[in-house]
Amino acid sequence: MLHSHKLRSFAVLASALFILDSCQKDAIDPALEIDNARARTKTKLTAVQQLGKQIFFDARLSEPMGVQSCASCHAPQVGFSGFGDIPTGGAASAAGFKRGFVAGIGEGAVIGAFGRRKPPTAAYATLVPVMDFDGQEFTGGLFWDGRATGLRLGSTAAEQALGPFLADKEQNHPGPASVLAKLKSNRSYLALWKAAFGTSEIDVSNETAVLANYDNVGLAIDAYEGSSEVNQYSSKFDAFQAGRYTMNAQEAEGMALFNNEAGCNDCHKQLGGNRNRPFVTGELFADFAYHNIGIPQNANNPGGNLAPDPGLAGFLATSDNLTWRAQATANFGKFRTPTLRNVGKAQRFMHNGVFSSLEEVVHFYNTRDVPGAGWNGVPWGRPEYLPTMDDQALGNLGLTPAQEAAVVAFLRTMDDGYTGPVQ
Ligand code: HEC
Ligand code: HEC
Repeated sequence: MLHSHKLRSFAVLASALFILDSCQKDAIDPALEIDNARARTKTKLTAVQQLGKQIFFDARLSEPMGVQSCASCHAPQVGFSGFGDIPTGGAASAAGFKRGFVAGIGEGAVIGAFGRRKPPTAAYATLVPVMDFDGQEFTGGLFWDGRATGLRLGSTAAEQALGPFLADKEQNHPGPASVLAKLKSNRSYLALWKAAFGTSEIDVSNETAVLANYDNVGLAIDAYEGSSEVNQYSSKFDAFQAGRYTMNAQEAEGMALFNNEAGCNDCHKQLGGNRNRPFVTGELFADFAYHNIGIPQNANNPGGNLAPDPGLAGFLATSDNLTWRAQATANFGKFRTPTLRNVGKAQRFMHNGVFSSLEEVVHFYNTRDVPGAGWNGVPWGRPEYLPTMDDQALGNLGLTPAQEAAVVAFLRTMDDGYTGPVQ
């Protein structure tokens, strides 16, 4: 694997990025502009990371060309995730974007092309392990349903990165060769490619070469996503663990609730975690396992709400592994626990983007099963799929409003970009 824990660094404290507001100049990919600011922090990337970064932010790599990059749906200023609402259908350019968002769901390169899932953060994704089944439960794999298993390349992030360029609701290329042709036609890519992979030629002369070089694109993106520019470990929480930040009373109370009464750490702690295990350095707040927590449908989902999203079952049902395939029904409606790092920067939450604030998320965990409870006077929608729903760990936690606010305050300590007092 190209990524490693060695890449972790506290050196990147790019605070300037996070005070830029969303008002962007027309015709500039807003993510790219933010990224230029990031570049000024002088992080030193290796050649393969630099190659991956250039690819990640390159809006030429869409069809039609010039309208969408990976960063369009995984923007640094919102924690490498997507946006809430941006006008769509080409009108997005008024807001400085080429493509829009509806209720947390991103529009593809083709105007009006929408999937039904929210972009999770691409930060810390490189740490999600290869998919595994221990006879009881599945862990690992990227995408909400784990279908980028990582089994072929040994890296979930490298395999994941091969998907969006070809997906018709994302960057929409007809095949790997057309992505590689765009890289070949750009001198700066050839130089980086040579530095990264030892050859200045991107061989596309036959199918085998095309597929091998397309894998290299995935590996380069994996290297960038694994760099200290993306996986920053620069949050208050990290500073707290390093003894450089003292939590205020509300944050400290939130942390205690997270680990105890609210039970968040049953799932938002790395595998093997339990209520008694202290946080580890670099904690990701994710067990990498799959759960159905009873999320209601997002009524405004532009990708449609015709049938419940099968989640993990959708992938398992198509797997070549017959043992896995037999597990599909039991895993219907389950989604992988996401990391909570940078979640305070996100604009929408859950696999379908149904919630719009952390306050709403925590209130949902607290009151999903309380009759009449809801948000803004509207009762919670019916869970999308009941048979596999977790009815033990959450739903009626009995937290007071002040305790809910404390949990939210603790969640916000996980956002990267804390610079701390000058030392
Ligand atoms: C049109 C918006 C869009 C574009 C463009 C896009 N993504 Fe995504 N990304 C998504 C959505 C939506 C998901 C979740 C899809 C699913 O789970 O089925 C996702 C999932 C991911 C994940 C998995 C995270 C996790 O926790 O499972 C990573 C990593 C990622 N994208 C990186 C990339 C990269 C790299 C590119 C460019 C090659 C890219 N994305 C382009 C919307 C987008
Ligand atoms: C039973 C396991 C479980 C427990 C307990 C749990 N979570 Fe989650 N959490 C998940 C899963 C799974 C998802 C994704 C669910 C989906 O989208 O369908 C999630 C999603 C989230 C998200 C949205 C992340 C995003 O990127 O959209 C937040 C925020 C969150 N949880 C916070 C909490 C807090 C705070 C608690 C405690 C009050 C908690 N969770 C308890 C499993 C759990």
